[in-house]
Amino acid sequence: MNGRALVLVVDDDASLRETLSLLLSGLGHEVVTASDVASALAEAGRHDFDLVLTDLRMPRGSGLDLVAALHEASPSLPVLVLTAYGSIQTAVDAMRLGAVDYVTKPFDNADLTMRIRRALERERLRMENDYLRAATRQGVGFGAIVGHSAAIETVFGLIERVAATDSAVLVTGETGTGKEMVAREIHLRSPRSAKLLVPVHIASIPSELLESELFGHEKGAFTGATASGPGLFEVADGGTLLLDEIGEAPMHLQPKLLRVLQDGVVRRVGGTRERRVDVRLVSATNRDLKALIEEKAFRADLYYRLDVIGIRVPPLRERMEDILPLTAHFVDEFAGRLGRGPMSVSKQALRLLEAYHWPGNVRELRNAVERAVVLARGDVLETSLFDLGIVLEEKAAAASHDSEAAPDAEDAAVPLSDMVSQFERDTIFAALARAGGVKRHAAELLGLNERTFWYKLRKYGGS
Ligand SMILES: Nc1ncnc2c1ncn2[C@@H]1O[C@H](COP(=O)(O)OP(=O)(O)OP(=O)(O)O)[C@@H](O)[C@H]1O
Ligand SMILES: [Mg+2]
Repeated sequence: MNGRALVLVVDDDASLRETLSLLLSGLGHEVVTASDVASALAEAGRHDFDLVLTDLRMPRGSGLDLVAALHEASPSLPVLVLTAYGSIQTAVDAMRLGAVDYVTKPFDNADLTMRIRRALERERLRMENDYLRAATRQGVGFGAIVGHSAAIETVFGLIERVAATDSAVLVTGETGTGKEMVAREIHLRSPRSAKLLVPVHIASIPSELLESELFGHEKGAFTGATASGPGLFEVADGGTLLLDEIGEAPMHLQPKLLRVLQDGVVRRVGGTRERRVDVRLVSATNRDLKALIEEKAFRADLYYRLDVIGIRVPPLRERMEDILPLTAHFVDEFAGRLGRGPMSVSKQALRLLEAYHWPGNVRELRNAVERAVVLARGDVLETSLFDLGIVLEEKAAAASHDSEAAPDAEDAAVPLSDMVSQFERDTIFAALARAGGVKRHAAELLGLNERTFWYKLRKYGGS
């Protein structure tokens, strides 16, 4: 765990809670406190903590019960127990119940700090392992298409079945869901894979040129047609033609497409000869073709020819299980391209990615990961590197602790003055921790007079 962690401190002794809070905030972490088992469990239900520090002896329920309950509710949440000197047996019991470490009271600040670091580091390694496992599961997917949700596996099954046939396929789905990838995978797995897959992005070709692009033209067919040339149907002969954004096909083109589909022949613009073409047609669209038919913007007869087999690629928000493997895949991709070592994603960041609604689907996720990898200074992608817009920040603030959406020192877009303040704040809290919470000593450590120290401490919310 790099950077800021969210820590729950449980102790019935208010002054100890305060000391521990200061120590933890000095280390740059966020703290929530609870004074007994019941309120600790309530807090644990409200926040997603990275670490719990708890006393074992408390009124109204024992710390051991808390350890057991926390371990049951979230087995991966590290719990560090504080135990009175001389009650090692209780500490051992706590470890059996799932605590990761223990510290005897009265504790030494340096020792406690080291153990906190270690517990958080262990959590980070565990996450990295999860991440690595997901990354090596990249095989889980279908060719280049990453994913293992039930929804995407349905798509894989359809690809497999249609690939062997020559039937026309219509791939539908929102923008960025991977329709083009599905079309490519169909081609690759088909008996036509040795021949070309020719993609035509219908919306990007001027309407008046579409016909000659698709069907070719003879010399003199129109101004500028100084030589004859084949169209993309002929180029794709023996292979697959991908009509992307078929919903944008102009009305005048549609009967001509229908004819090729019915008769398997094309006639070049300005020509008379019919040429036989053996082309498998895959079309894709993010539009609702049935609605276009209602609006008389799409021909029903063409639609039925194109949609012999329909494959709907579900939006990313309907297959949240794919976010982890996709993120791992893209992190690897961009870390590799930028020549960086292995990188991982923090637990909070992953949670945010999973909470977002992804209107731009996989493409948007890929772009977000690229941006985060480019901006990252360390090897862990933190929440602040993912710029997912206002919607996400609101969600995060509502869903969990407000530290989630707050930018931290990882963000490359932080102005210098903020970085300086952050540094000053960290230094002050670190000194305070080293001085065991005694402000006068902390001021001495920093070579500040006590008043200046007090002023700065208040400025950073430390008193
Ligand atoms: N399951 C996936 N695994 C890996 N990469 C994916 C996956 N789905 C989409 N992508 C990537 O996301 C981007 C968008 O995919 P693609 O172009 O296939 O989407 P599309 O549905 O055709 O989008 P549009 O409607 O905008 O044309 C591409 O960079 C693609 O490589
Ligand atoms: Mg596309």
